[in-house]
Amino acid sequence: MKGLILSGGHGTRLRPLTHTGPKQLIPIANKPVLYYAIEDLKEAGITEIGIILGTNMPEKVQEAVGDGSQFGVNITYIMQGEPRGLAHAVAVAQEFVQEEPFVMYLGDNILKSGVNEFVDGFESSDYEARILLQKVENPRQFGVAELNEAMDVVHLVEKPREPKSDLALVGIYLFKPSIFRAISHIKPSWRDELEITDAIQNLLDSGDKVDSHIVRGWWKDTGKPEDVLDANHLILDTLDPHQEGEIEDGAVIIGRVSIGKGTVIKEGSVIRGPVTIGENCYVKAYIGPYTAIGNNSRIVGGEIESSIVVGDAVIECNERIVDSLIGNHCHIITLENHFPQGRRFVIGENSLVNL
Ligand code: G1P
Repeated sequence: MKGLILSGGHGTRLRPLTHTGPKQLIPIANKPVLYYAIEDLKEAGITEIGIILGTNMPEKVQEAVGDGSQFGVNITYIMQGEPRGLAHAVAVAQEFVQEEPFVMYLGDNILKSGVNEFVDGFESSDYEARILLQKVENPRQFGVAELNEAMDVVHLVEKPREPKSDLALVGIYLFKPSIFRAISHIKPSWRDELEITDAIQNLLDSGDKVDSHIVRGWWKDTGKPEDVLDANHLILDTLDPHQEGEIEDGAVIIGRVSIGKGTVIKEGSVIRGPVTIGENCYVKAYIGPYTAIGNNSRIVGGEIESSIVVGDAVIECNERIVDSLIGNHCHIITLENHFPQGRRFVIGENSLVNL
């Protein structure tokens, strides 16, 4: 079995963070979301992995993942060129996949349970595809499956206006090479994309068998800021803490807290887990639950909670920061005795400031 991870797309809903890199590199609990997919595949025994690259700074993915040896896998990079949909991305990987069954994993999806239980038995089965489903409150934003009473998949629709069920397609799929034939038969959708959902429907129309599994643990598509923060909560809930930095006397650490090497937690700080703080940070502040602070950040004064600081940040203020996604190299500082008084911003396109 091979693995195929999709790491293209423009990430428009995550701007401005995606102005400086692909969305699949946004850190969840201080680890790029893409790494979770690689680790899941490796855990399921899949070591030949193709990563499909898009046009938004693909070299950053190559820098971060390399040849895959840090994960114990072999990575092959495949250029998609202009993004024309998920099914198009799969089609460009045909030469890599050859005649083997494969797991297709959307690089911005994250699944608590991993994929082992879904991969088991697929290769020897007579199913041409296996899809994963989960109940959602907003099925219109996903591919949606209609099942019959025997729980067989009867129909799939991408982003339906009137969903026939609340079962969304999770962005992880298992295919046999017959999917390439199905993809060659489909036409672009209303959003001008070749939809993988339509390709699976084409398999059903040709009489091929498709089975489905309901995902019981949590699943997140990290396409929007609130989903990224939710995923950060869910991963931090399972944090296995380790402390390598220096914690000064008079600093209070409560609950599960990870502190990377070279980081100093100054006296007077309160860190209330679950919290992960990367390497070479300087902290003299309150850091509250569900916060991830990336490497080389300086946090002085104030409070920060339920937030992601990607890294290389300077936050020196007496404010309380909550539910925030703070990109690389951001500075949030208080100017003392500076006139005229007021908020001063240097913020990029698509920034969001809630005051
Ligand atoms: C894609 C698929 C959709 C699926 C979703 C899961 O949507 O087209 O069927 O439910 O991923 O994350 P997109 O992210 O392209 O809107």
